[in-house]
Amino acid sequence: MIILGIETSCDETACAILTNNDKRITILSNIVASSALLQAKYGGIIPEQAAREQIKSIIPVIEESLQASGHRQQEIDAIAVTYGPGLIGSLLVGVETAKTLALIWNKPLIPVNHLLGHFYANWITPTHLPGVKAHLEGVPSFPCIGLLVSGGHTDLVLFTDHGKYKYLGGTRDDAAGECFDKCARLLGLPYPGGPIISKLAQEGNPKAFKLPRPMINSKDFDFSFSGLKTAVANITDKSKVADLAASIQQAIVDVLVKKSIQAVEKYQVKNLIVAGGVAANQKLVSELAVSCQSSAIRLFVPPPELCTDNGAMIASAAFFQKALKNPLSLQADPNLALVT
Ligand code: KG4
Ligand code: ZN
Repeated sequence: MIILGIETSCDETACAILTNNDKRITILSNIVASSALLQAKYGGIIPEQAAREQIKSIIPVIEESLQASGHRQQEIDAIAVTYGPGLIGSLLVGVETAKTLALIWNKPLIPVNHLLGHFYANWITPTHLPGVKAHLEGVPSFPCIGLLVSGGHTDLVLFTDHGKYKYLGGTRDDAAGECFDKCARLLGLPYPGGPIISKLAQEGNPKAFKLPRPMINSKDFDFSFSGLKTAVANITDKSKVADLAASIQQAIVDVLVKKSIQAVEKYQVKNLIVAGGVAANQKLVSELAVSCQSSAIRLFVPPPELCTDNGAMIASAAFFQKALKNPLSLQADPNLALVT
């Protein structure tokens, strides 16, 4: 089976073509056009502008993805698309394009929740040798704990099967990615903040600044990151940027690792899957790897390019889902939750 996946929930216009030959899900092509550099000029995402960039990119990105896959449209078995959550203007571009293609190419349409899609990057067979120990052969097995760390979400869920998962907790205010982004802004660094903070952190001392680790000792699976951002805002001398970056990163990583391991232990699972843009953070991955190794837990983290928004994760999730009876009935849902 060959699935074409479309992702346009925010500022990335993405299309990928995946196949599940021999029960392994592999990537035939994976094209991402991003308007992040344009958004960076304004210090964050302007929804109207992101939507206009989506419209410009969607057809060229789909065409490039088809071409790179070496397959023609006739060979595609189904179309998958992100229908929420995200920016409504951006989502509409992907959803309406996917509906139109499903109609004119006469293909089934599979709607995918963007947040669930992030987790499914862990079901794609790596096509290159992984750079970190966290990548293991094979795919996750159930039950497993899922940690979603993206720009808008920080959630812990318990998966018992494909499509069967329970919400354990999440952030009460800012998401981990949002905290990286807001702290970067306070340091005068460009958007998105995560990659630049982690780069600067390599040269800094993570113990230089005493920053709070909100809710790290709470017995639940909730998070709070807004206090960390406020603590950074209150630092008067921000000249030691690398030290500050390292201290911010360490505070975020400490909380994410502690809560994830706490969930793994409470539910006695043997697999931990991590997803979302912040999973591209190598400090987070290496600290999770150390904790998981000592408890014989299999850790799954997608390669960095599959952590941030892409079409491959959407197509991957679609292999485990049903197509709509009526493709034209699909509506974009900007407020779609992970657990509905
Ligand atoms: O999953 P994603 O691409 O988009 C959403 O669905 O939100 O996540 C974007 C977030 C941004 O907040 C960005 O700063 C963060 O992921 N991010 C990182 C890294 N790369 C991206 N955070 C920390 N370290 C990174 N290397
Ligand atoms: Zn995302």
